[in-house]
Amino acid sequence: MGSFRILVTPGDGIGPEVMEEALKVLARVERAFGHEFAYEEELVGGAAIDAYGTALRPETLEKARSSDAVLFGAVGGPKWDDPRAPVRPEQAILGLRKGLGLFANLRPVRVHPALVAASTLRPEAVAGTDLVVIRELTGGIYFGKPQRRWETARGRRAVDTMRYTEQEIRRIVQTAFEIARSRRKKVTSVDKANVLATSRLWREVATEVGRQYPDVELQHLLVDACAMHLIRRPSSFDVIVTENLFGDILTDEAAMLAGSMGMMPSASLGRRRRGKSLGLYEPIHGSAPDIAGQGQANPLGMILSAAMMLRWSFGLEREAAAIERAVDAVIAEGYRTPDIAGEGTTVVGTARMGSLVAERVEA
Ligand code: IPM
Ligand code: MG
Repeated sequence: MGSFRILVTPGDGIGPEVMEEALKVLARVERAFGHEFAYEEELVGGAAIDAYGTALRPETLEKARSSDAVLFGAVGGPKWDDPRAPVRPEQAILGLRKGLGLFANLRPVRVHPALVAASTLRPEAVAGTDLVVIRELTGGIYFGKPQRRWETARGRRAVDTMRYTEQEIRRIVQTAFEIARSRRKKVTSVDKANVLATSRLWREVATEVGRQYPDVELQHLLVDACAMHLIRRPSSFDVIVTENLFGDILTDEAAMLAGSMGMMPSASLGRRRRGKSLGLYEPIHGSAPDIAGQGQANPLGMILSAAMMLRWSFGLEREAAAIERAVDAVIAEGYRTPDIAGEGTTVVGTARMGSLVAERVEA
């Protein structure tokens, strides 16, 4: 029996709806396995801008620091979309990642056999896909300085800076190799070494790290080629490791292999101590303002993110696996939210999907 403190930040749009279902499933885990989860809740993103004028209050970051994990819904929406606004909902997630030192973003993509038809790709192309993208999350062009825009006599200009240190590259590539060891022992390091200096450093460091893992195969791939191979032969990938922006783009693409972004969980981890780490867990879908408030959103990405929390921050592997089995069972029984519905399936809303999963969680 363990007791854990979780900061819950539902955020905007469908965030609160899918969060409710994850909490429902966690309540079931508490009862079935005899654990105790203590929750605190904080507004983030647009909701926090409305309430406090800032997307992420320093108090919220402090609470996150003293928790065992953060469960994060989604942020953003048309109401806060003015590109000139000094406060933006995205500052919440970026601030949490950076403020908590969560440099490793794990985004697994597994195509459930019953969902191969939900993909826009041909079934024979996606079948058997089981990969994880390890995205560097606190460096690169997202955080490099200078970042600004200004006016000149000849028009507007803007600059972003892609910057990496060898330490930043080494720790994320090491994370990828460690994870590969528990999988199919194949790392694909993705860069743009034919153009970018940061990528040439990345490739050099990745090669050095690779020498310490002779049991794991290392392959380098340019990011444009990787984008192509992801839809051509996705099942050939095991672990993909890449920098922040490339990882952002490739993971949206990879998510579509599984039919819907709604299915995809993620974990953002910092330095690991004794096999555990403070982590932030969020579905990779956004706030989906177009369907917010309708009870139609797919809660499985959020629920599977909660499972990742149990595994990576609490060391509760059995409990994590119990949630994943419950999700597999619900899908195998034919239940679908509208985003993954197909012929012969039973379409259910957000709350019902959450209950179906919760009911199937067993010790
Ligand atoms: C993601 C999102 C974020 C990112 C946005 C909301 C800042 O797209 O988690 O992939 O770019 O990292
Ligand atoms: Mg993204």
